[in-house]
Formats: sequence, structure tokens, C-alpha cells
Amino acid sequence: MHKEIKLTVSGTGFVGLITAGVFADRGFSTMALDVDEKKVAAVNKGETFFFEPHLPDLIKRVVLEKKTLTASTERIKSIQESNVTLICVGTPSKSDGSCDLSYIESAAKDIGQALAQKDGYHLVVAKSTIVPETTRTLIKTIIEKESNKKAGIDFGLCMSPEFLREGQSVHDTIFPDKIVIGQFDEKSGKKLEAIFQHLYREENDEFSGTWETIFGKKVTCPKILRRSIETAECIKYANNSFLATKISFINEFANICERVPGVDIKHIAEAIGLDFRINPKFLQAGAGFGWSCFPKDVNAMITFAKEHNHNPKLLESVMAVNAQQAKRMVQLTEEIVGDLKEKQIAILGLSFKPETDDMRNAPSIIIIDELLSKGANVIAWDPQAIEEAKKENDLGNKITFANSLEEIFDNTDACLLVTEWKQFKKLEAKDFKKMKKPVVIDGRRIYDYKKFRKEGIIYAGIGLGEIIN
Ligand code: UGA
Repeated sequence: MHKEIKLTVSGTGFVGLITAGVFADRGFSTMALDVDEKKVAAVNKGETFFFEPHLPDLIKRVVLEKKTLTASTERIKSIQESNVTLICVGTPSKSDGSCDLSYIESAAKDIGQALAQKDGYHLVVAKSTIVPETTRTLIKTIIEKESNKKAGIDFGLCMSPEFLREGQSVHDTIFPDKIVIGQFDEKSGKKLEAIFQHLYREENDEFSGTWETIFGKKVTCPKILRRSIETAECIKYANNSFLATKISFINEFANICERVPGVDIKHIAEAIGLDFRINPKFLQAGAGFGWSCFPKDVNAMITFAKEHNHNPKLLESVMAVNAQQAKRMVQLTEEIVGDLKEKQIAILGLSFKPETDDMRNAPSIIIIDELLSKGANVIAWDPQAIEEAKKENDLGNKITFANSLEEIFDNTDACLLVTEWKQFKKLEAKDFKKMKKPVVIDGRRIYDYKKFRKEGIIYAGIGLGEIIN
């Protein structure tokens, strides 16, 4: 089947490049499209331009060895030469919390203009996260207007959201929990289902072998759910909103636990996670959630609900709890160190989570802002995100970046563990004892606080009620 399909993927961000790479690895002839010449040039050299585990090898293999992936800025011509187009462009937040759909509009325009001069059936699949009804009212309308063709007759239309996590996005694309297909019509849905079945077919071939060696499990076809277009759009928002709710729930409880002597949120999370109706995932209390996805999607749903005369109280609280949570790290520091004016505070970890250099909406930004507003001097280190961090919120001019992890302890009054990179998990009490005063505020609860305290560390952690006996 992959011989019949020629794919174009619009957008070379996380979703686009990884999706293009995985389809190309399965043998589909794939063209990644972008307006950015530098990104296109990098892909054509087999290179990547953001940090993501396993992606460099994948892109190198499909571009230079298998030669199944190329990239181009010639979007209209490339779409004409293909028969399936996946829309994977970004949908960033606007200042009012709603979704900026301008990249979606231009991708749809490209497709419409290409289809105007093309014979034969073409399947269009929206993968970007878009608020309900966007596929039908915006994408379909633009393509039909530009091409003078009809969805469901001349071209197929689906919406298929992705659920991949940054830092594990190659894994999540190859081993998804589910595939959701929102279909405009039966033919479109059937065609896309056949493509996914081919991608995930269970076979002892090179593709399966490569990924089995890396991840230790066999490629299998996940459950494929075929639903309406609007249902697929809503599933994506419900999925992310629910996960964000779980995090804010456990953070809310962590704040309550901090007020109960001898209670540790980790024990609460462990126990409730054993209830199969709850499950243990996404119950890690900490400095809050970051990156564009959870904040962006929950905010987009809040705005959407309000525009449709519903007051989404729960989702608003999820965001409010999250905003407070990062600041809780600073409160804990003050409770131990006192006035933060002119104190040297170290930040361990800047990216919104480990294994990525992504700084968007990272809790570290709120924490640093709060520390600076209280007159502290901030020094920070991250294994990957320093260069990205320098560009965020003018941090490059506001704080000091350590050249190495070791440097972070010199003359420091408190260390705030913000992102749980493996490099930090290895640290021992003796490392923190190099500080002026060994104060550790554990925002991800990665250290054994009993051991640390025994070894002379002044330790505070999110969700740890003080033991009074
Ligand atoms: C999230 C979803 O998990 C993906 O399914 C979805 O596809 C993606 O958004 C998206 O819409 O593109 P991602 O934001 O990459 O993925 O990362 P997660 O691993 O979900 O973590 C998000 C944030 O939640 C991080 O800041 C993490 O530190 C925080 N988190 C996560 C917690 O504070 N506690 C937890 O228990 C889990």
C-alpha cells in the first residue's frame, strides 16, 4: 500500500517532523513542507533542529539511507504531486487564550490551490490541535473555495489528533495507545484507517526490528476509533484537559498535605493510584505543568466554552492551581531562607520537563520571575535548555547561567530542583554541602529526604507535611 501513497506533511514542528519521519521509516514516500528555508535545508541534510531523543537517527536514516523523506518549501507543487496531506502546523495561543489559526489557514490555502490544478482523489488530514468545528468551518471551507472542489466527493477530509509527549514523541508515535480518526465521510475515514493499519502492521520486518531493539516491544496496531470530525477535535482537548486536571488535583492535595504533620503526597498518590479507576500516572505533585500544550489547550477550551455560554469552573481552577504551584517553590524557599533580597538562589533544571530543551510556559520562568521580584540573584543550570532559556522572557540578561552543574553550588543560599533531569537524580548530600548553606527545595520530590536530612541537608519538598514526632 505504501507504494500507492505519496504523503505531504505540512509543518516541520514536533508533530510534523516526527510523523513524517515515522511514515518515511515505514517506506511511505514522504515530503515535509515548511515555509522556513533553514529547516527545510536541515532536513534535506538529514539533520534535526530541536532536541528530541531518537529523532536525529530517524531523520538521518530516512533522508540519507532510505531516501524516503525529503523536505521542500515548494508547498503547492509538492501537494499536487502527493495524494495525502497531513496538516501538522502549530496552533499557538493568542493573548486572549484562544487558538491562533493563521498557520492552519495558510496550510489549507496551499492545499486548496494545489487541488485546484490536480486531478484525482486527495485525502486531507488535520493533525494539529484545533478547537471544535475548525476542520469543517475553516479548513474545509478554505479548501473548497480555493479549489472549487467538494469535500467527500473530490477530496477526502479527516481530523486525527496526536497524543505524543515531547521527549518521548518518537516512542509515542510508534506505540500510540489509540488512533482517533474523525471522518467527514465514510470513504475518507476508511482510507485513513487503511494507512494507519499499514503503518502499524504486525510484521517481522526492518521497521519493527529497529523499534523493537530500541524500545524492547513489538510494533502492534492500536485500537482505531472512527468518529465524527468534531468528536475527534473534542477528544484531543478532553484528553489534555483531563491530564492537566489530574496534575492540578495532586498539586492541590500536596498543598493540603504540607499542612498535615507526617503526611507525604507521594504516599497519597501511590495509594490512590492503586485504585484501577484512578491509575498511578500523572499523579506526580511538583512545580506545575508547562509547555504550550496543557496551558494552551486548557485555556483554549475555557475560551471556547465561554464563547458558547458555558462557564468552565473546573478548567479555570486547573489553571489557577497551576499558576500558584510554581510560586509555592519560592514560598518554601522563603520559609527556610527568610528574606530573599540579595540571596543567591540556584535553579536546577529549566526546561518544562526532562529530555527536552523546550522552555515554553516552563514553571522555571514563573519561579525565576518571582525570585527576581523578591530581590534574589539567580543562577541556573540545565543539561539542554540553557540556550533556549536565554531567549525566554529576557532571561539571558536577567540571570546567570552556570557553565557546569558543579558551578551551581558556589556561594549559593538555596537550590531549587525544578526539572527532574537524570543528572540531578544522581546528586548526593555531599554535593549540596558545597553550598553556603545546604538548603534544597525539591520541586519534583526526587530525593530521599530522610537520608538528606540525616546527612545535614535542610530539605523542603512539595507535598511534604512536617514530621513533628
Ligand atoms: C502533553 C500530553 O501528555 C500529550 O498526550 C499531548 O499529545 C501533548 O501534551 C500535546 O498536546 O502535544 P507534553 O506536554 O509533551 O504532552 O508533556 P507531559 O509529559 O504530558 O508533561 C506536561 C507537563 O506536566 C510537564 O511540565 C510535566 O512536568 C508535568 N507533569 C506531568 C506533572 O507535573 N506531574 C505529572 O504527574 C505529570
